[in-house]
Amino acid sequence: RISLGETRPEIVKLGSGERSKEVDYSSSQRGTRVRVFGRVHRERKQSQVLFVTLRDGHGYMQCVLTGNLAKTYDALTLTRETSMMITGEMWEVPPGAHAPNNRELHADYYEIIGKAPGGDDAITNKVQAQGDNQKLLDMRHLVLRGEKASAVMIVRDAVEHAFNVKYHELGYVKVAPPALVQTQVEGGATLFELPYYGEKAYLTQSSQLYLETALPFTGNCYCIEKSFRAEKSLTRRHLSEYTHVEAELDFISFEDLLSHLEELICGVLELVLGNPRTAAMVQDLNPKFQMPERPFKRMRYTDAIDWLVEHEIPNEDGQPHSFGDDIAEAAERKMTDTINRPIFLTHFPLEIKSFYMQLDPEDKRLTESVDCLMPTVGEIVGGSMRSYDYEELMAAYKREGIDPKEYYWYTDQRRYGTSPHGGYGLGLERFLAWLLDQHTVRDTCFYPRYMGRCRP
Ligand code: 4AD
Repeated sequence: RISLGETRPEIVKLGSGERSKEVDYSSSQRGTRVRVFGRVHRERKQSQVLFVTLRDGHGYMQCVLTGNLAKTYDALTLTRETSMMITGEMWEVPPGAHAPNNRELHADYYEIIGKAPGGDDAITNKVQAQGDNQKLLDMRHLVLRGEKASAVMIVRDAVEHAFNVKYHELGYVKVAPPALVQTQVEGGATLFELPYYGEKAYLTQSSQLYLETALPFTGNCYCIEKSFRAEKSLTRRHLSEYTHVEAELDFISFEDLLSHLEELICGVLELVLGNPRTAAMVQDLNPKFQMPERPFKRMRYTDAIDWLVEHEIPNEDGQPHSFGDDIAEAAERKMTDTINRPIFLTHFPLEIKSFYMQLDPEDKRLTESVDCLMPTVGEIVGGSMRSYDYEELMAAYKREGIDPKEYYWYTDQRRYGTSPHGGYGLGLERFLAWLLDQHTVRDTCFYPRYMGRCRP
């Protein structure tokens, strides 16, 4: 039994888990007998021959049914998505013919395992909603079987795996912070609140504060967890539930934080592009993708404001940008697309950033903060140095109207051996939208959640 996607499939010995040597179907190995399981991805009838492309999640395989095998009722009525088992001999495809991995299975026996409907209920009718995105999202459980949607999911797995590999290479320890919390991190406006045994609790907006408490016993640490935001607007880069790759670094400077981010992002890309299967998928989905140049461009918030004014890109009120403005999504994207390379936008004013951020020692109106902006998507990372002085943190709670009571455990980090530290959060769906040139983060997660959608 073999997997469909292996370029040179190896026979897997059942039970032992050992793999035998590679197989070359063009030479001495031609005619190797195999048994495969999968679903009909495509079928094509040509005179007396039925070509079936099977799919099993590892890849695709062309199977050729001839003679009586092509004339049975099941063969004549075969529909897409029918699951089946086929046995036969593996051959290299004849010169001039094309098939996945340049090979085909000449069937001598098959069994249907589960038929799929045809006619009006055929999968092709369910997943072709003619530009109606809502219908496609209702049918996401079937859409995901398509070549593009499934490739995005497979690259997503590779990217998440690469983050884990890269972090471990760098000596980071993974921790698993809770999703149910009683503190906010990124402001009250986007909190999902829920009753919790007679108390009030929230779905976490970010695991940052918990990661900070791990630093003293793990050193540098990270997590890959869900974050939740009650975003009350529909945009192409906001979800209500997203996968947040977050890390904290101990005893560092702001510049250390920026160079770590470059190393991490490029290291993850190298791993994903170093794997032939995922590299081919990235190439198919985003043929123009290029590795970012290092170092990334650094730009201070005040320079971005000047840039936006010079390029006559107005703020949300239609006015020229000025110091203190939040740079909104559209303006940020215009700037990033024009500059067309990754940008570290740094030193945002205190008033538009979160309570925990370290002030810039040279200008106390500013924070040691960074957003990493990517062409076509905009912000994919938000990070900063953390305010690590006890008195400064107390002043920050006061400034933001936060009751320090619930934050006693966070405040204790400043009381029991504080340290200059910093960290960031990277939105996995945004990272993928950039890497795979997807218009929206709704297409880079398994089942998107956003205002008005919580199914399937
Ligand atoms: O900039 P944000 O809000 O920063 C934080 O949450 C920090 N506490 C993270 C940290 O320092 N540990 O979010 C970080 C990133 C954004 O850059 C974006 O990529 C993603 O999380 N993000 C979202 N992705 C999808 N949908 C949303 N609604 C998102 N909100 C933030």
